[in-house]
Amino acid sequence: MKTVVVTGANRGIGKETVRGLAHAGCKVIMACRNVAAAEAARAEIARETGNGDLHVLRVDLASKASIEAFAAAFAERFRTLDVLVNNAGISTSAREATVDGHEPNIGTNFIGTYLLTRRLLPHFDRAGDRAIVNLSSGIEAIGRFRTDRIDRYRWFRAYAVSKRMLLLFTRWLSLEKEAEGFRINAVHPGIVDTSIMYTGKWFDFLIRALCAPFFIDAKEGARTCVELALGKRTENGKFFVKGEPREIRLTARKRKETADLMRFCEALD
Ligand SMILES: NC(=O)c1ccc[n+]([C@@H]2O[C@H](COP(=O)([O-])OP(=O)(O)OC[C@H]3O[C@@H](n4cnc5c(N)ncnc54)[C@H](OP(=O)(O)O)[C@@H]3O)[C@@H](O)[C@H]2O)c1
Repeated sequence: MKTVVVTGANRGIGKETVRGLAHAGCKVIMACRNVAAAEAARAEIARETGNGDLHVLRVDLASKASIEAFAAAFAERFRTLDVLVNNAGISTSAREATVDGHEPNIGTNFIGTYLLTRRLLPHFDRAGDRAIVNLSSGIEAIGRFRTDRIDRYRWFRAYAVSKRMLLLFTRWLSLEKEAEGFRINAVHPGIVDTSIMYTGKWFDFLIRALCAPFFIDAKEGARTCVELALGKRTENGKFFVKGEPREIRLTARKRKETADLMRFCEALD
């Protein structure tokens, strides 16, 4: 039986990933900021699947201290994991920095995910089928960045930058860990009808109207994540776009961005 950590598991794609894994008999640790919503999701999925091995552990990916506390509590309660699904993410126009002083989209979607991954890597079961699934996005294509300008990017641009960073980190880590047998991949789930698609502003009705022909539901959006977590897909270092594995090709620019990013990450640890 696999032990899987899923971040942002209280709603959307993360919740449907947990549902799929629970049906398959996995032990799942739901790493969530909103504990009340996560408990409600856990109870609903446990009732539906009969899986009593679902757990909620609090983490706020916008805070390094919270990530450290999560990693310590995880090690004490669960000891090892086989799979990490880095699903949690935001798209916000808010300008307030995270408690650690980062732009909120990049601070949560990339920096928080990077730090959590780093903290959990020593806890992967060496005898297990080890995998990491990172929820990137097709929008990474417009996320060109320089790390010395990170705090200047805003909202969609910052979101795109965070997803490009996650994609480049996925490729880098997949090569780094290949010899140890890890499978580390990124996923663009498609255009999924979840709350991240909406802004809470007047033009939400336009977003809904424009996206309606392309929308898939969260269960469909979670399909590749579940397959990768269960080891039904055996690739490493790929970008799964709506279920299809693609090479993560590095242009000269992306090569430079990767080098720059990994230098930036060293200073975060
Ligand atoms: N929907 C799409 O079309 C689409 C397309 C491409 C990629 N993606 C990616 O897929 C992932 C899941 O998105 P979704 O569509 O399921 O969105 P969603 O329904 O808005 O879910 C986002 C999840 O992330 C959690 N989260 C946000 N900030 C957090 C923090 N600081 N600490 C811990 N958890 C946090 C949320 O928890 P709270 O309830 O506490 O806010 C929620 O559980 C995201 O990474 C997104 O970028 C989505």
